[in-house]
Amino acid sequence: MPFNKIILPEKDIPRQWYNLAADLPGPIQPPLGPDGQALKPEMLAKVFPMNIIDQEVSIRRWIDIPEEVLEMLALWRPAPLRRALALEEYLKTPARIYYKDESVSPAGSHKPNTAVAQAWYNKKFGIKKLTTETGAGQWGSAIAFACNLIGLECKVYMVRISFDQKPMRKTMMQVWGAKCVASPSHDTAAGREVLRKMPHTPGSLGIAISEAVEDAVSDKSGNSRYSLGSVLNHVLLHQTIIGLEAKKQLKIAGEKTPDVVIGCVGGGSNFAGVSFPFICDKIHGKKIEIIPVEPTACPTLTRGPFTYDFGDTAGLTPLLAMYTLGHDFVPEPIHAGGLRYHGMAPLVSQAAAKGLINPRSYDQIKCYESAMIWGKTEGTICAPETSHAIACAIDEAKKAKKESRK
Ligand SMILES: Cc1ncc(COP(=O)(O)O)c(C=O)c1O
Repeated sequence: MPFNKIILPEKDIPRQWYNLAADLPGPIQPPLGPDGQALKPEMLAKVFPMNIIDQEVSIRRWIDIPEEVLEMLALWRPAPLRRALALEEYLKTPARIYYKDESVSPAGSHKPNTAVAQAWYNKKFGIKKLTTETGAGQWGSAIAFACNLIGLECKVYMVRISFDQKPMRKTMMQVWGAKCVASPSHDTAAGREVLRKMPHTPGSLGIAISEAVEDAVSDKSGNSRYSLGSVLNHVLLHQTIIGLEAKKQLKIAGEKTPDVVIGCVGGGSNFAGVSFPFICDKIHGKKIEIIPVEPTACPTLTRGPFTYDFGDTAGLTPLLAMYTLGHDFVPEPIHAGGLRYHGMAPLVSQAAAKGLINPRSYDQIKCYESAMIWGKTEGTICAPETSHAIACAIDEAKKAKKESRK
């Protein structure tokens, strides 16, 4: 009987994160400060604790995961690698489809992988409160969970449309003791300014980031910092545990190198998590097609130029070298709230610019049809974000069938 899942023992949780910045060909384009000059790490000190800033600028290939962070990760990791046998059967494809199941985390997504690490580094630095944004509510619930675990106060600015569409996410944050407000809000100058100009806006991640950054840096006690759920190098670094585990599991499954690696992309951390260890193999000569999938409603990698832009709407963040639709772009209120971000992680952007990954954009209806096929075959009801990756996996499996390839 073919197996359905591979579960690693706890002792096999990776002990180090993988940093793609060490292997990307060509110089990394640094973030720029307001004067247009390369940002000095200490200029971020009011926003992030120094131990996280050190990781953000690091070009070391392997970074040790602190023992206490490993203990928290072990609450749900290693995550299973499953084989989508029922989907393969439904599609009558010779392709073997594997998926890394990050839904087993307490908050139900990949986001707690970095949330527990970020909360731990902040606590270690003496910080008492974290502020953040959330799109679909996955990141907000993950950081609320982590702050509760570690003993930090937490305030979440949740994009208005998701606040209304996904009320249970808000309840989860409240269970874990976080305060959650709809963004734009009246709590910040950035929020009030947007509400003045666009009182009925559905909100965006860019606006919510402006609010959360302003909240943190305006705390006169100096005890607050901001925490980001995607985009930045340290966030992507923490997520690489996904791909590193997957590699061990694929080996147990008897697979050598996968032909195709797929992930959905919002800010880039989910995709980076599963793909960066494979991009490393590709850089070192392996033949792998690596596909980030974004919504046609927010086609950052497929339509945006690669340039310097702000990470938020109000222009409070440094300028980042990335694919972007413009920091004031407000995407249509599609259900995949976690993919409604105007920009893209600089490391993912630079991998795209160098031709290491092949982005695609998919329409919401096609993704929903794929999610329905998934629910009826594999049994789980996936997140709207995840459905983008599933739609692409189905296309690739059909292509394999046409070409009689496994
Ligand atoms: C379930 C799910 N998958 C993927 C993503 C996208 O993650 P990222 O923004 O890191 O690309 C999100 C974002 O909220 C999400 O909620």
